[in-house]
Amino acid sequence: MRYILTVMLVGLLGTTGCARYKAGVVGDGVDVIAHRGASDYAPENTLAAFALAEEVGAEWVELDCRLTRDEEVIVMHDDTLDRTTNGTGYVREASLHEVKQLDAGSWFEDKWRGERVPTLEQALAQAKWKIGVYIEIKDTADDAPLISDIFDLANGLQKHDDLFRKDVMDLVERSETRNLLLTRKVIEIIRKHKMYRHVVVQSFSPTVIAVMAIEAPEIRVEFLGADDPDHSMTWEEYLRWGYLFDVDGFNVHYESLSPGRLAAFHRAKKSVNVWTVNDVEDMKTVLTWGIDGIITDKPAVALNHTNTVGAAMGIKEQNF
Ligand code: G3P
Ligand code: CA
Repeated sequence: MRYILTVMLVGLLGTTGCARYKAGVVGDGVDVIAHRGASDYAPENTLAAFALAEEVGAEWVELDCRLTRDEEVIVMHDDTLDRTTNGTGYVREASLHEVKQLDAGSWFEDKWRGERVPTLEQALAQAKWKIGVYIEIKDTADDAPLISDIFDLANGLQKHDDLFRKDVMDLVERSETRNLLLTRKVIEIIRKHKMYRHVVVQSFSPTVIAVMAIEAPEIRVEFLGADDPDHSMTWEEYLRWGYLFDVDGFNVHYESLSPGRLAAFHRAKKSVNVWTVNDVEDMKTVLTWGIDGIITDKPAVALNHTNTVGAAMGIKEQNF
């Protein structure tokens, strides 16, 4: 009940504001990024969750994308249909037509019955001019040998150059990684809808990051990571890869960040967003450190705190 009241209040205030999306620029205030849409209030990764994020005043929505069997880009977090739809099986084994028959709302609450799994194109069309979109390209291949080859190739190189880029793309193509096709499809869709300034592409996949940096330099790219043994890269490798491909930002799990790490990123002119912060005390902590964006399932709650904590520190102008 409390969150419904917060949603209504912030939504009401938000309607008096202007367009919410803006490029994620270091020093441009704290962006609230609604994780999988306003996913604490509506079924994740649906058009309803994205609309609600806009309604409460978030600057951005975050979504996840994957390829269907017939190579269409759809919006879904998991690699199977099981958790968030009434279907079963791998996304990569279902056609777009099959996915479109599924109910993506009733698993969350019966009132959302009838919500569908959107395509990336549908999500972008709904968002354009209203809210920015963080497109997370899901890592859909084991690229460990490829990553190792690219590290070897980089040797002492600090930042990619022409020859390195050519050699990297040669390695990526020869590896036949599924991550390449998905990344190229996403780039094609962003270009088709002329949404370079409305989107940021982020990924945990080093391959996706490399391909984005090389083939779509006009699109902002941010590297997801964490200092966590379950992660495919160590923290040092994560930094090395991000600087080698000159990503625009590092989006870090909030428990992996510290004021010192944040300051180092900022000295290098890289933005830093933290994920996925839903607890108010955690929100306050990272806000006082001076992060650039907060990825949260509870955008209404985060907006309250970015406007109070942020304003007190002089790091954000009031949006309302
Ligand atoms: O935006 C960061 C966050 O979405 C990464 O984790 O698993 O929710 O996609 P996940
Ligand atoms: Ca995500």
